[in-house]
Amino acid sequence: MCEDREVFLRAQGRIFTAFREDEESQWKGPFYFIQGADPQFGLMKSWEIGECDYGGDEWEKEIRLTEEAVQAINKLSPKPKFFVLCGDLVHSMPGIEFKEDQERDLKNVLQKTNQDIPLVFVSGNHDIGNAPTPETIKSYCNNWGDDYFAFWVGGVVFLVLNSQFFFDSSACAELKENHDRWLAAQLAVAEKRKCKHAIIFQHIPLFLQNPDEDNNYFNVEKNLRQELLEMFHKAGVKAVFSGHYHRNAGGLYKNLDMVVTSAIGCQLGDDQHGVRVVVVTEEKIIHRYYSLEELNTKGIEQDLMDLMNPK
Ligand SMILES: [Fe+2]
Repeated sequence: MCEDREVFLRAQGRIFTAFREDEESQWKGPFYFIQGADPQFGLMKSWEIGECDYGGDEWEKEIRLTEEAVQAINKLSPKPKFFVLCGDLVHSMPGIEFKEDQERDLKNVLQKTNQDIPLVFVSGNHDIGNAPTPETIKSYCNNWGDDYFAFWVGGVVFLVLNSQFFFDSSACAELKENHDRWLAAQLAVAEKRKCKHAIIFQHIPLFLQNPDEDNNYFNVEKNLRQELLEMFHKAGVKAVFSGHYHRNAGGLYKNLDMVVTSAIGCQLGDDQHGVRVVVVTEEKIIHRYYSLEELNTKGIEQDLMDLMNPK
């Protein structure tokens, strides 16, 4: 670990102090943030040799790609309000020998993010395990901050969820109950306080293309999915941003936008390594995926100007 060089702020006590709620509870005009997913240090090597359960003993490519993302984000003007990473920070599951080194190297890269751009971390299955335990969750929280929390930016409420509780909570039933109780309370607050928008971040997509699609490795089980979709929709949640699929995808449930963002690291489809730019205006949440190359060479200034100040 590298305690002495860790400079980024972590969420604690279910809040994220990079943003003060008393200053951020009112709408102040359009803004944008960057959403990335699955830097997953170690997967590219594992995938290459066809051993995905293996921790991946090399992650040079992912270091370079994440550095590229950080460099591109640091160059953006105006600055994004924050950079959220929607899980699978590293590939090694808890207990795999490479995990600590992979996490150390990821932290070293992320520390180069401009200090005015807070980093928001979301837990993925590779971070806490497919069936997380109190120990794996505790270890994640020590490293990256709370596994679920809320924060406000300019009148918009953001909820970071731990979607492993939606996948397999058999080894952490009590923690899941706490999470679900907290989530219900947060959604009630969002509804009551008439926030401009409510936006959710989680690792596993509720669905990939269609709310009624069959269960598969990459989505949330159908009955629970319907329950969550309806609960989010009723509370006025406008968008859920996720990763996990290593491809871009998504669809609508009523007026809720389910957004699935491809990986900074290993691609499992035809997308380029990239991140998503998300513009929040008074009426809408508009987003577009940019490859790291596009972001680094072309920039997005003109697109941002057009989106944030529509004529
Ligand atoms: Fe992943």
